[in-house]
Amino acid sequence: MLKHHAKIEKNSVLLLIFTVIVISIGGIVEILPLFRKETTIEPVQGVRPYTPLELAGQNVYIREGCYNCHSQQIRALRDEVERYGHYSLAAESMYDHPFQWGSKRTGPDLARVGGKYSDDWHVQHMSNPQALVPESIMPSYPHLTTRVADLDGIADDLKALRAVGVPYSDDMISNAARDAYAQATQDSDYLDGLLERYGDKVNARNFDSQNHTSEMDALIAYLQVLGTMAELKDYKPAPARGGNQ
Ligand code: HEC
Repeated sequence: MLKHHAKIEKNSVLLLIFTVIVISIGGIVEILPLFRKETTIEPVQGVRPYTPLELAGQNVYIREGCYNCHSQQIRALRDEVERYGHYSLAAESMYDHPFQWGSKRTGPDLARVGGKYSDDWHVQHMSNPQALVPESIMPSYPHLTTRVADLDGIADDLKALRAVGVPYSDDMISNAARDAYAQATQDSDYLDGLLERYGDKVNARNFDSQNHTSEMDALIAYLQVLGTMAELKDYKPAPARGGNQ
């Protein structure tokens, strides 16, 4: 055995090959289990996939590059929790593809902005942030009120998300465009279907008070649901391992 070891030590190429093999085994054992989301994310009551209108809003959020200035991840640090609310749980972004954690905060974190302001506040703020927060450096997005939301093709987005594991049912996909309009217009013919598919807590209303369903409607539907799905009062973190509690 020792004799062979001397051979490896004297031959640098051989040593490199064996080193790589040993490190790879360690790496595989550590990393492979993490690819199975179920083993790393604690399920939390209330978290559901986005409705088609909210998803259209997330598309606008990504297209406009809001993530360049806003993160969506409240860290478990005292100052963050005091400013933004309960720290973010992994389950709360498990249906985000791509995730919106972000890496830069020019503006505040938005992980729990849902319900913090009225719809009207958002319309005014997005159209002209400085009208509400004079010192704001956020750009204005007045075009969102005039542009009609792209909802007829939203079923394809649901299908694509299902391919990467978001549990959209056939029913949700075939009714996607109708559900989106129902959420923005409260059309009584379709509202029940929407609530049945996504739950009674869905915010269904005309977000920007205009006659057409605009990108502003979609974006506000998205912002107003952020951080509101998880039932945090029932949430108890798993006990820390090896702690002295
Ligand atoms: C250049 C950086 C920048 C970009 C891009 C940006 N914002 Fe902001 N945002 C800010 C800053 C700074 C503030 C804080 C001042 C204010 O309220 O306007 C802010 C505030 C906000 C708030 C209020 C948050 C709170 O808790 O008070 C919301 C909501 C928001 N932005 C949404 C958006 C959305 C949606 C987009 C994309 C359409 C966007 N922002 C793009 C910089 C930005």
